[in-house]
Amino acid sequence: MLNIALPKGRLGDKVYEMFSQIGYDCRAIYEDNRKLVFENAENGVRYLLVKPSDVAIYVEHGAADIGVVGKDILLESSPDVYELLNLGIGKCRVAVAAKNGYVEQPDRVLRVATKYMNIAKNYYAGINREIEIIKLNGSIELAPILGLSDVIVDIVETGSTLKENDLKVITDIVPISARFIANKSSFKFKNDRIEEMLQKLNALLQQREEAKKV
Ligand code: PRP
Repeated sequence: MLNIALPKGRLGDKVYEMFSQIGYDCRAIYEDNRKLVFENAENGVRYLLVKPSDVAIYVEHGAADIGVVGKDILLESSPDVYELLNLGIGKCRVAVAAKNGYVEQPDRVLRVATKYMNIAKNYYAGINREIEIIKLNGSIELAPILGLSDVIVDIVETGSTLKENDLKVITDIVPISARFIANKSSFKFKNDRIEEMLQKLNALLQQREEAKKV
């Protein structure tokens, strides 16, 4: 049995669609929305639905053999896993944003609200800017509105959350997309199965590229 950690939510739906297109279907996923484990004995796969930020933890510890996770999580937590393929879905970016009209004051310590502590620290260390980090877990956009921080470092996809809250991107830090990852020892001991899946995913990505050209 190959245990696959899928991120619950929007990205998970897209990933599941890709996996079923390459023959790893598990129909029950559409039927029961409280269940967290879905098994297809025929295909030899078991899907585990986990919080997007937990996928890499399951894979690193071997509770899942493989998984799909955003590059943001990999950059933030540097898990000890193999990053095997860029799936080209879940595209967005990590960016610095602030209130419209915000003016940077270079002589003052910058207050940065984020859930991406390491990405933010690395970015500001790279440009030699002294910061104070305020760790939040969600609705980061509220921080500059309430004066809790000067800027935020967060995911921007369509940009509509920023727009709706009178904020704007100041700098893009890094582009993000979903990555196919594997547990290191699973990659060794279940190599045939994981390689087979990789090949099929690569073929599907190529097909998608070809279809875009037509
Ligand atoms: C993410 C991110 C932004 C939003 C950006 O939040 O933190 O709030 O998506 O998307 P947009 O540019 O398309 O508006 P998420 O939905 O993951 O929830 P969170 O607030 O709990 O982080």
